[in-house]
Amino acid sequence: MDLFEYQAKELFAKHGVPTTPGRVTDTAADARAIAEEIGKPVMIKAQVKVGGRGKAGGVKYAPAADDAQTHAENILGLDIKGHVVKKLLVAEASDIAEEYYISFLLDRANRTHLAMCSVEGGVEIEVTAEENPDALAKVAIDATKGVDLALAREIAEKGKLPAEVLDAAAVTIQKLWEVYVGEDATLVEVNPLVRTPDDQILALDGKVTLDENADFRHPDHLVFEDTGATDPLEVKAKKHDLNYVKLDGQVGIIGNGAGLVMSTLDVVAYAGENHGGVKPANFLDIGGGASAEVMAAGLDVILGDEQVKSVFVNVFGGITACDAVANGIVGALKTLGESASKPLVVRLDGNKVEEGRAILAAANHPLVTLAQTMDEGADKAAELANK
Ligand SMILES: Nc1ncnc2c1ncn2[C@@H]1O[C@H](COP(=O)(O)OP(=O)(O)O)[C@@H](O)[C@H]1O
Ligand SMILES: [Mg+2]
Repeated sequence: MDLFEYQAKELFAKHGVPTTPGRVTDTAADARAIAEEIGKPVMIKAQVKVGGRGKAGGVKYAPAADDAQTHAENILGLDIKGHVVKKLLVAEASDIAEEYYISFLLDRANRTHLAMCSVEGGVEIEVTAEENPDALAKVAIDATKGVDLALAREIAEKGKLPAEVLDAAAVTIQKLWEVYVGEDATLVEVNPLVRTPDDQILALDGKVTLDENADFRHPDHLVFEDTGATDPLEVKAKKHDLNYVKLDGQVGIIGNGAGLVMSTLDVVAYAGENHGGVKPANFLDIGGGASAEVMAAGLDVILGDEQVKSVFVNVFGGITACDAVANGIVGALKTLGESASKPLVVRLDGNKVEEGRAILAAANHPLVTLAQTMDEGADKAAELANK
């Protein structure tokens, strides 16, 4: 998960990485109020998860509160590389003597962590990296040793930071490593890391990517989730740990195993051509353990999709046999009660298929149609979606 700059800076503050004070807002009037509160010149900074905001006009200097409001009005709603600005960071403007670049990232190709550092930071870093790659020092980090103050200083030295600021820079670089490890990040980037005229070191920008596989260790990261930008059905699916992707179609799909679900999408799309061009409405892989709860959660998400007109459940019984899946479907329909209101076509095959079909036949639910084959099920579901 990528964070906004203001969120990255919250993590910086937690680990003692120095930056300038500021606050986030979504209105121009409030931007003005924050500027007045700070009582010094501020920067109005677009909060979008894309680089190059400065060059795109999303970062503006405001010497007075009036300017803060004007810039805020102009930047809110601005489209920066397809990202519309909804929030602004109003941060105290710093005097800048020099701009440096520092980052820690997961170097997958070399199976290691990597530090990158350069005295030539700022908005032209991509150009520098391209045209003068030697200006960007790369230091592999041994995961078992990490980064202590001595190594942090060495990184700064290799990045050719001036001798006068090496000590101060080392302290901040070491803390950024603590952010990287402590927060389970795969990227921590500061560009620019600035030197002020009085030789202070400040992180004026911050880019952090968190490793979602480590979310369970960080309940406090939950607030960072950008639910406004994600489809609400996907948010709901994620709550239930379901592997769900919303698509633009009318036939809801539930299957087990990514390969089977992918081919189900194909078969349904193909069948849809004979039924008014209906299409699959989603990808949903309920995985191996298709319990009643998982089936209910999956059905609940799919039925919550207003576009969905029918559902195709396509399961190949393996370790979780068809009888368990059938019981899952029956249980799910019971749990959902009235809210299950769309026709369900079920195709079961594989381990204990006869038992599974018998369970569904006995339940005789008015919404459920049994199909013998995948093609037949896809055709039936597409037909029902086109009614
Ligand atoms: N708080 C600040 N005080 C002074 N200058 C700033 C401040 N924040 C950003 N800047 C200037 O604006 C430039 C761009 O801002 P930055 O946050 O790096 O956005 P981006 O990298 O998306 O362009 C920085 O390189 C820096 O020169
Ligand atoms: Mg930057």
